[in-house]
Amino acid sequence: MRKTISESYTPIDRLKEISNWVSSVLDLDHLLELIIDSATRMMKAKASSLLLLDPKTRKLYFKVATGEKKEEVRKYEIDMGQGIAGYVAQKGEPLLIPDVTKDSRWYKVISESTGFETKSIACVPMEMDGQVIGVVEIIDKEDGSAIREEDMNTLTVFAQLASLAISNARKFDQFKKENRDLREELETKYQIIGDSPVFQKVLSDAFKVANSKTTTLLVGESGTGKELLARLIHRAGPRKDKPMIILNCAALPETLLEAELFGYEKGAFTGALARNAGKFELADEGTIFLDEIGEMTPGMQAKLLRVLQEGIFYRVGGNKSISVDVRVISATNRNIAEEVAEGRFREDLYYRLNVVRLNIPPLRERKADIPLLANYFLEEFSIENGSPGMKISDQAMKKMLEYDWPGNVRELRNALERAVVMGNGQEVVSEDLPITGIKAAPSGLEFGLTLKEALDHFKKEFVTLNLQNTGGNRSKAAKVMGIQRTYLSRLISKYNIIGI
Ligand SMILES: Nc1ncnc2c1ncn2[C@@H]1O[C@H](COP(=O)(O)OP(=O)(O)O)[C@@H](O)[C@H]1O
Ligand SMILES: [Mg+2]
Repeated sequence: MRKTISESYTPIDRLKEISNWVSSVLDLDHLLELIIDSATRMMKAKASSLLLLDPKTRKLYFKVATGEKKEEVRKYEIDMGQGIAGYVAQKGEPLLIPDVTKDSRWYKVISESTGFETKSIACVPMEMDGQVIGVVEIIDKEDGSAIREEDMNTLTVFAQLASLAISNARKFDQFKKENRDLREELETKYQIIGDSPVFQKVLSDAFKVANSKTTTLLVGESGTGKELLARLIHRAGPRKDKPMIILNCAALPETLLEAELFGYEKGAFTGALARNAGKFELADEGTIFLDEIGEMTPGMQAKLLRVLQEGIFYRVGGNKSISVDVRVISATNRNIAEEVAEGRFREDLYYRLNVVRLNIPPLRERKADIPLLANYFLEEFSIENGSPGMKISDQAMKKMLEYDWPGNVRELRNALERAVVMGNGQEVVSEDLPITGIKAAPSGLEFGLTLKEALDHFKKEFVTLNLQNTGGNRSKAAKVMGIQRTYLSRLISKYNIIGI
């Protein structure tokens, strides 16, 4: 519904109301109409208009016009320096002309062709960041008298309001555009690559959990892409426009970690000069990603558990409970079930975090992803390095496929970065890769193990290998290995074989 102004308002009331609109009405065209309409009524003018300067053509065009001939005048464009509006726009100074017929600057054409009789005109410039962006003008009083000097102040205030409205709207558009650009950049920056069946399964599970608020635990060796996956889950879900806050639990000692997570009140400890919001507060309505959760001390584990159970927490040194709506994703590269079994990680916290668990298999267990990832990173770094279109030689690819990648995708990425920087700018050859290419010793074949340990290593690898080659089909794998399916299942849980 459009607002109209009651005639009984005092001028100050009107101005206050208009100021409110300037900060609340987001539709610029509507807002400018309101402003001009108010100006017209307040000064009892016969007609008024707002002209904007088109920065490309350097011509003024009618953005808003009131009065009998408001539709007709919109056809006209005015050059800089032409007529009174053009003069004001060029000089950047207000102008009051009591009798236009006596002023040589008057551009009669519009008035004559529309048949609108004009006696006096007041015109003031609109400015933004020191530049003229347009003008506001009024023509004659309703009673036919000339515009007076005191009307100039009022008109100036309206012109300022209009500039403010335009400036706000332009900034808002600018923000929207920047926001969109950043988002696009993020999407490409955080692309997740991999088409091996095991990895595709992880991704499809991730998309499933993304839609809910379910607390999710990501388990995988360092460099397998846990953080990347956490970002994907956040971005693919309904919270994507809210913040995702990341905290590495291993990086800080307990006291600092507590302050980071929950925030603190002024004076809570030496150096707490002002109240500070914690990561949980910052993540309100969004997601918190607790990385390396397995490194949390028992004390912190207890505090985190309380937040997850009760949904509230206190800032350090504070006694007001704070409740937030946060989705929790945590990650660890440890065998967390073993940590629990051995009493290093609280079982109750584990169950809270492990509502859904996604296991990201190490790169050596999804070698099918290597060519795709390698080419993806190659493209990224070769463009960055100013040598786009680089290729990977067959020999180099073979070496990458044979290698074990203990540092997983992170190591692969670093290897390609180095290869691009150190290489010949056209093709990555074997020698450019900072990896040995020596195959790891078969599992279990290591000095220092007991026979039982060696056999366990071997069995785990052997079972994994067979599951991979049968697409995770336990019956088929058991058949190939010549064992019972139930025995295979026992081995899978005994060795904690994941991700297949
Ligand atoms: N599937 C993937 N596709 C593209 N890049 C990946 C993938 N997995 C990992 N990366 C990249 O490898 C590096 C390590 O990933 P990260 O998520 O930090 O691993 P983690 O948290 O498990 O240690 C990052 O640069 C990440 O962008
Ligand atoms: Mg990480």
